[in-house]
Amino acid sequence: MQITFQPIGTIHTPYREKAPYQPVESDEGTFFLEMSPDYEPGLKDLDTFKYIYVLYFIDRLVKEVSMDVAPFWAGEIEVGLFASRSPLRPNPIGLSIVKILKVERNIITTSGLDVFDGTPLLDVKPYIKDLDSKADANYGWVDKTGDMRHLALHILGIPHEY
Ligand SMILES: C[S@@+](CC[C@H](N)C(=O)[O-])C[C@H]1O[C@@H](n2cnc3c(N)ncnc32)[C@H](O)[C@@H]1O
Repeated sequence: MQITFQPIGTIHTPYREKAPYQPVESDEGTFFLEMSPDYEPGLKDLDTFKYIYVLYFIDRLVKEVSMDVAPFWAGEIEVGLFASRSPLRPNPIGLSIVKILKVERNIITTSGLDVFDGTPLLDVKPYIKDLDSKADANYGWVDKTGDMRHLALHILGIPHEY
């Protein structure tokens, strides 16, 4: 079966070749989602929310997809691809949670995003309090690395040396 998506817009960021590994909320620069004008009516009431999920097509991957992933920062640990947030996936769909700064016409201005300028936008959904946060969520295999400081850098999306 083949599934075809059409982008609903384009993501604009200051990043051409290098982007943070996760969104950095306090990142400097201009970040915005330019929706196709046809979808502008669908943005009504979106600005009643503080945060959104942004889904996109990771369109400029150059490496092969592998079912094993060994994050450089995790020592000897190798995990399954689907137990990781690696962008190299059979369906390269990226997911980022960002703050809405403003919605004007077909443009959603956001806090920092972790994608290259021009990345095709697939979907936008509101991030809803309680529905979208689980109080008993855990760190999974990351606990085994003992490197919680490193995880925190990822969670905060702070660029760092591996
Ligand atoms: C690790 S992914 C994280 C994506 C998402 N926040 C998640 O957790 O699913 C972010 C990285 O993907 C890479 N990237 C971003 N946009 C890309 C694009 N359009 N094509 C290829 N790689 C991209 C950048 O190297 C960036 O550091």
